Amino acid sequence: MADLTTTYMGLKLRNPIIAASSGLTNSVEDIKEFEENGAGAVVLKSIFEEEIRRELEKDLGSMKMETFIYPETFDYYDNYAEDDTLTNYLRLIRESKKAVSIPIIASINCVSAEKWPYYAETLQDAGADALELNVFVMPSDFEKTSEENEKVYFDVVKEVKKHVKIPISLKISYYSSNLGAFIQKLSNTGIDGLVLFNRFYSPDIDINNLDILSTNVTSSPSELPISLRWIGIMYNRVGCDLAASTGIHDGAAVVKQILAGSNAVEIASAFYKNGKGVLKDMLNDLSSWMDNKGYKTITEFRGKMSQDKAKNPAAYERMQFMKYFSGKG
Ligand SMILES: Cc1cc2nc3c(=O)[nH]c(=O)nc-3n(C[C@H](O)[C@H](O)[C@H](O)COP(=O)(O)O)c2cc1C
Repeated sequence: MADLTTTYMGLKLRNPIIAASSGLTNSVEDIKEFEENGAGAVVLKSIFEEEIRRELEKDLGSMKMETFIYPETFDYYDNYAEDDTLTNYLRLIRESKKAVSIPIIASINCVSAEKWPYYAETLQDAGADALELNVFVMPSDFEKTSEENEKVYFDVVKEVKKHVKIPISLKISYYSSNLGAFIQKLSNTGIDGLVLFNRFYSPDIDINNLDILSTNVTSSPSELPISLRWIGIMYNRVGCDLAASTGIHDGAAVVKQILAGSNAVEIASAFYKNGKGVLKDMLNDLSSWMDNKGYKTITEFRGKMSQDKAKNPAAYERMQFMKYFSGKG
């Protein structure tokens, strides 16, 4: 019987499948279900930097529109936000720690390193085993240079690390002008893990009502190759662990991401689409594949198909359709 245990950010996991941060990791009941279905760990739904700052400042009136970097945040506060968001989040950490024995990773969605980082300590004190920082700076401010945009990530790590001792990971997007070097530099800041990649709502246009909509809330399996490429390229070139996220919908995709070099995978959409029960199927498929190939442990095959180790490393960088459909084969 294959041994599925792995380590990620210094945490010992019973297997590499982590329930990614989403609306499905926002209650103790859901977290218990993930544990029952075999999850190696759970990342809680993110608390937002703006939620922390708002509650710390307590008075929405003292925060101006400019303090919110993204317009949806302001809408959210007008319509949905509750006053006790932070208290509820701390309670979720405490109660889930009591209810399950798998690691609980708290998550903060942040866009700056201003004012809030000391608050990360309270998540640690509530019992979180690790902290995932979901950082995203939309590179659409024409006044900013790429260095200014990227500096935010380093500032966030530096400030948060002053306040917590638990492992920290950064969850990033692939919107970077020099992605490989950026990932490598981030991995050497003393963080314990990098999650490649986060996934976002995308815009669509309703041509009947002439409206702009958010679409594609959940991923499809065809989105797997983006993270697969970058896990494969970055394996053995980073100073921290790697977790793959986006487009992982079955056991084969889990196997691929480990072969490329991931320590763990973070999955959300497959659970939205097919229920938490698919986690068991993924684990069974991973286990049978290992048995068939004669692998007893995850480390025996992790990174075996990375760019560093594969027979045809150039495949990871091949982008252009030189021969396809040109009549030459
Ligand atoms: C409905 C929904 C809510 C999500 N909320 C968060 C969140 O609060 N914080 C976060 O870091 N990622 C969030 N994500 C992103 C997921 O954690 C995951 O990284 C992403 O969906 C890609 O994985 P997937 O292809 O398995 O869905 C959310 C995803 C979905 C579908």
